[in-house]
Amino acid sequence: MLARTTAFFASKGSGSPRLDAELLISRALGLQRIELYTQHDRPVTGAERDEARALVARRGRREPVAYILGTRAFRGLELAVGPGVLVPRPETELLVEWVVAHAPPGAAVLDWGTGSGAIALSLAAERPDLAVAACDVSPDALDAARVNGSAVGGDVEWVLSDGFAALAGRRFGVVVANPPYLSDAELEAAPRELAFEPALALAAGPRGDEAIAAICRDAPGHLDPRGLLITEIGEAQADGARALMEGAGFRDVAVHADLAGLPRAVSGRLP
Ligand SMILES: C[S@@+](CC[C@H](N)C(=O)[O-])C[C@H]1O[C@@H](n2cnc3c(N)ncnc32)[C@H](O)[C@@H]1O
Repeated sequence: MLARTTAFFASKGSGSPRLDAELLISRALGLQRIELYTQHDRPVTGAERDEARALVARRGRREPVAYILGTRAFRGLELAVGPGVLVPRPETELLVEWVVAHAPPGAAVLDWGTGSGAIALSLAAERPDLAVAACDVSPDALDAARVNGSAVGGDVEWVLSDGFAALAGRRFGVVVANPPYLSDAELEAAPRELAFEPALALAAGPRGDEAIAAICRDAPGHLDPRGLLITEIGEAQADGARALMEGAGFRDVAVHADLAGLPRAVSGRLP
């Protein structure tokens, strides 16, 4: 089953055909992934085969594995995801690591564009001293984040807001954002999996840096003196994001690389 499914996914253009096959078949058989190997000679019932076929057919249409399974792990949290909410990516863990390391004790932190709540809930879990708020313009995303908050027990204030609009008069010690940063054209040309995710979470406009620019422009009005901003960026956006941050008055602007060595985030500090 694994070999045939792997070959099928490869023929459909999956970038991780063996892993996809292991995840979906183990789900259909009610096994841990390792048990596919330790129980390789276990008979498969008709019902299990039907279940596996249904999951495999969905992945064959390039639906993201996380939507098929309904969950994605992020920094040790098992988060529910589905249509209407972005699947959290491993690269984004870099932003959490940076805030965990740099947020002053007891700081108020805003997760701009929280999606599934991945960043906000990780921060609440890893730095319980922080007062974490999270906003999103998408009611679907905010609902998903709230559900995840209840499931993992995270103490986060959820705010429906277009950018900082519903946060007038609020100031934070840290703003962390993984905004949409693809251009409309890049989204058009992206792998088919991305068509299952909300365009609002992925594409920012004709240039791609529109949301990053809005955050750099508006964050200083919502940060304390010496407040910190970190935003995720596309790998070709480092110079532009650095200029935007410096132009908005941030100091100590730094570009951070992800595990693949690609520029993935830019941070700065207000004077
Ligand atoms: C790239 S996703 C990031 C989701 C989540 N933070 C993560 O890292 O997995 C961007 C998120 O920003 C939200 N968003 C887009 N435009 C926004 C805006 N103007 N104001 C607030 N949130 C926005 C989207 O709905 C989406 O949930």
